[in-house]
Amino acid sequence: MEAMKRTIDCGCLRKADAGRTVILNGWVNRKRDHGGIFFINMRDRYGITQVTVDTTTVDTTGNQAGLADICAELHNEFCIAVEGTVRPRPDDMVNPAMATGEIEVLASKITILNRCETLPFQVDEETNAGEDLRLKYRYLDLRSAAMQNRIRLRSQVTFAVREWMTANDFYEIETPTFIRSTPEGARDYLVPSRLYPGKFYALPQSPQLYKQLLMVSGFDKYFQIARCYRDEDARGDRQPEFTQIDIEMSFVGRDDVLAMTEGMLAHVFKKTLGVDLPPHFRRLTHEEAMERYGTDKPDLRFDMPLQDFAPYVEAGGFQAFKDALAQGETERQQAAAKHITVTGGGVKALVVKGRADYSRKQIEELEAHAKIYKARGMAWMKVTVDGVLEGGVAKFFTENAGQIISGLGAAPGDLILIVADSRRSVANTALGAVRSKLGKDLGLGDTGNRFEFVWIIDFPLFEFNEEENRWEAAHHLFSWPQEKYHATLESDPGAVKGDLYDLVLNGYELASGSIRIHDPVLQQRIFSIAGFDSAEAEKRFGFLTGAFRYGAPPHGGIAPGLDRLVMLMAAQTSIKEVIAFPKNSFAEGLMDDSPGEIDQKQLDELRITIRKENKT
Ligand code: AMO
Repeated sequence: MEAMKRTIDCGCLRKADAGRTVILNGWVNRKRDHGGIFFINMRDRYGITQVTVDTTTVDTTGNQAGLADICAELHNEFCIAVEGTVRPRPDDMVNPAMATGEIEVLASKITILNRCETLPFQVDEETNAGEDLRLKYRYLDLRSAAMQNRIRLRSQVTFAVREWMTANDFYEIETPTFIRSTPEGARDYLVPSRLYPGKFYALPQSPQLYKQLLMVSGFDKYFQIARCYRDEDARGDRQPEFTQIDIEMSFVGRDDVLAMTEGMLAHVFKKTLGVDLPPHFRRLTHEEAMERYGTDKPDLRFDMPLQDFAPYVEAGGFQAFKDALAQGETERQQAAAKHITVTGGGVKALVVKGRADYSRKQIEELEAHAKIYKARGMAWMKVTVDGVLEGGVAKFFTENAGQIISGLGAAPGDLILIVADSRRSVANTALGAVRSKLGKDLGLGDTGNRFEFVWIIDFPLFEFNEEENRWEAAHHLFSWPQEKYHATLESDPGAVKGDLYDLVLNGYELASGSIRIHDPVLQQRIFSIAGFDSAEAEKRFGFLTGAFRYGAPPHGGIAPGLDRLVMLMAAQTSIKEVIAFPKNSFAEGLMDDSPGEIDQKQLDELRITIRKENKT
């Protein structure tokens, strides 16, 4: 190798280098044979250089004969070393699409460093190989320019994060990955202990408790590029193991954490993409987001808001809408009598611009989508070219049609979709899901390289788990209930708003965080509401609440998902595209065939017996 070690990479030669003798190392990206003159596009991480081999003439060294044999043997993805002279390409052969397109290297010597077997798929810019194949041969998939670019972006983003955090006085501190289980809502991945048979470590779902403990220790400003593990179903924006930019700060309020995050992201986007972000991102309360977009992760690259249709119900003749509102009001009053806050019924409308041409079948597909989100049905009507309501439930609204059209800001050619439910949240969520689906189907968000950030603030602290008939933390158990609700935490948990916030980018939850509870008594109250008695809470979180008794400072933090951030920056819809070795959607590593069975000896050491399922 020494003799043929590269003197230069495949991306940097220009016209000014003409005449230089160079050695390149890399892979055969493509080979063309023009009657004894071979053109080999040679590739490495830095770019592609055209190597020209003229085997039609013999020079004094007799090299060409050898070169002809080598060229005949070369195939795509052979790893080779080439020595040659740089020369400008003739004017008509210059390739402006290639950074090195002005030159070529006339080879005098080629060494095959390693051959390549028949490829399972072509290593292309954007391969069309199936995902399973790409994951099985990930090391080849990663050679493509597209994957190389995305992994480079990820590295640059990670570096820019570290650069900004360090410059702003944050310490990067590692926390353990063999821990006692932390509750983030998903299942833990467990690691059996050999020394303590029957006991298990958990892999962290996030460093949540440790970063809070670091605040108790006085570290003040912490961050970590942290690996997190969650045993939950994988999907486009989720993996069983993923990475967070985990952050915590002491003596701060919500707005400090939001401003810090904005500053960090502004640096990252500018440094890596050259994109200027606005100095502050817009904010929506959770309630506003649900009312206007029916989701706490709205894609604001398009607006298309949900609108209130309730004002038009009374004058119309459609009984189902009236019933939904009436029943919702009854339920609201019943709950109010028990001092419980519920929102009552809702009738919400969505104006879909210029889609009055949607067929009944298309509308039924949208209705089916709304039903996934518990809507009982979805009504519709169209605004004709003459500005009249037509089709669907239009016949019930002839009296106030004009008022509806102008009130909703609808125009001729628009489609109006309506969902009513005795629970306003169902109407919002179901129609919000239709809005999101339309956004995707109609490509409403695909308008260039846009990044629409929005903070969602004032989340409810608790959610009611109907299956288990109990309140649980909407985010995690350590978030600070806003002061004005402290007196009514136990009596009306559903109304409590917490100082928690999500950062949403183009319809994805990018980050989550909160101001934390630092008062052990308040923390205990939250545990009890979420169904942990003091013994259970002591067992699971005692090391945190114990620490809070030793002068814990007020603190708060946030954790942007690094994979999602890079995915959105790289305009992808799956985080697998920005992770070097991801799992497939069934949590399998197709390349190393994990999870795998282990030897009986290892099981014996751990004193683990595998229970064989009875196959019937
Ligand atoms: P949360 O659970 O909301 O909060 O996670 C924070 C962010 O991590 C990313 N994320 C994921 N990315 C890929 N695959 C997954 N399975 C996955 N799960 C989460 C998302 C998400 O917004 N400890 C708290 C943060 C805090 O309060 O400071 C936490 O983990 O981008």
